[in-house]
Amino acid sequence: MSSGGPFRGRAGALRSVDWSIVTTTPGAAYLDHAATTPLSPAASAAFVEELSRTGNPSSLHAAGRAARRTVEEARESVAASLGARPSEVVFTAGGTEADNLAIKGLFWGRRTTDPRRRRIVVSAVEHHAVLDPAFWMAEHAGAEIVLLPVDEVGRVDLEALRTEIAQHAEEIALISVMWANNEVGTLQPVEDVVRLARPHGIPVHSDAVQAVGQVPVDFAASGLDAMTVSGHKLGGPVGVGALVARRDAPLTPVLHGGGQERGVRSGTLDTPAIRAFGVAVTEAVADRAGRAGRFAALRDELVAGVQRLVPEAVLSGPVPGPGRLPGNAHFTFHGAEGDSLLYLLDSVGVQASTGSACQAGVPQPSHVLLAMGVGETDARGALRFSLGATSTPDDVARLLDVLPAVVGRAQAAGLASSGGHVSAGGVRRTAAAGGAA
Ligand SMILES: Cc1ncc(COP(=O)(O)O)c(C=O)c1O
Repeated sequence: MSSGGPFRGRAGALRSVDWSIVTTTPGAAYLDHAATTPLSPAASAAFVEELSRTGNPSSLHAAGRAARRTVEEARESVAASLGARPSEVVFTAGGTEADNLAIKGLFWGRRTTDPRRRRIVVSAVEHHAVLDPAFWMAEHAGAEIVLLPVDEVGRVDLEALRTEIAQHAEEIALISVMWANNEVGTLQPVEDVVRLARPHGIPVHSDAVQAVGQVPVDFAASGLDAMTVSGHKLGGPVGVGALVARRDAPLTPVLHGGGQERGVRSGTLDTPAIRAFGVAVTEAVADRAGRAGRFAALRDELVAGVQRLVPEAVLSGPVPGPGRLPGNAHFTFHGAEGDSLLYLLDSVGVQASTGSACQAGVPQPSHVLLAMGVGETDARGALRFSLGATSTPDDVARLLDVLPAVVGRAQAAGLASSGGHVSAGGVRRTAAAGGAA
């Protein structure tokens, strides 16, 4: 196969894609790109074109061979964009499935060769797509979970990992530490984690769902054994993603059937989604530096505006800069409920999130904030604003226009429901609070 997929030569054209033709809710400011971001025009065109074609990539006739070619070209594009080999890309139906395959597959694979390997070591701030399969394995497959603590900005404690490895190297099945946190945007020291694990032959997985397209992600250079990517977080369709996994990663399949994807992920390949995913990954990575610059400029404007207009707002996570996703801003508003803030903002045309969209509707404080040491009351007043390719200064201006009144109303509602008392604790200050310009 050639080293370049069909979209590589068009990277320049992709960079100048006209995002203005993509719509979110008309008239509203969409500030929830970490939950899902619009399908890019190029990915959409590829998706639609492919939907009208027929052919199972596993079939041997001409239609099947054409579909196979499309899938393999997308595989090459994804691999080239992520610093991986095409044979290391295992297509899945999204990030959740890839995380499940990594956690369960590596656990079973490692335990089969040595039954002492029962420990699954994960950071306390992982997405539920990692945490829940790990806890499921504890309930159903004899795993023992080791939660790595994080500091006040959500960065994993490498000393705790060093100690865990020193004491239990022989019993560790795998380590999973995300590349970038979906709530507070913290970038994790993935390469340091690999450096600690490598001498002991412990496989390391990283969920890079939020990182790809915003920060440089190179699978080979990272030294990881497995890495998760998802289509709809970077301009591709929902329901497609990949586990990038070294050929020698001890992965036991989770889905059994037709033996597709080197036998680790059975199921007929979704050619249209995979082709669109390949386009979106290529596009997002080719324009990564440009996007990061645009996102960071808007994010800085947003952070400065919020801090000016609502001085009691506390920025959670790292100081905006190299330790944080450029498209992420996250605040807690003392005395207000995140859900109230979200609905009040929505009613005036600003769409944001209390944290992870995957937990929407579950009225519990975020496990990420609690792990960072945020008190339960403050954690309840969390709001995440996340930027993407369609974000504009108008989106930020709209938020800033309405936010002070919304916070006032949410705090009044919070006071009313707590009988007039805001619990003790006052305004929490983190290292990040003073750092945002
Ligand atoms: C960090 C992270 N991992 C995994 C997922 C799940 O990905 P998907 O929606 O493709 O299943 C998400 C989605 O919110 C995420 O933010």
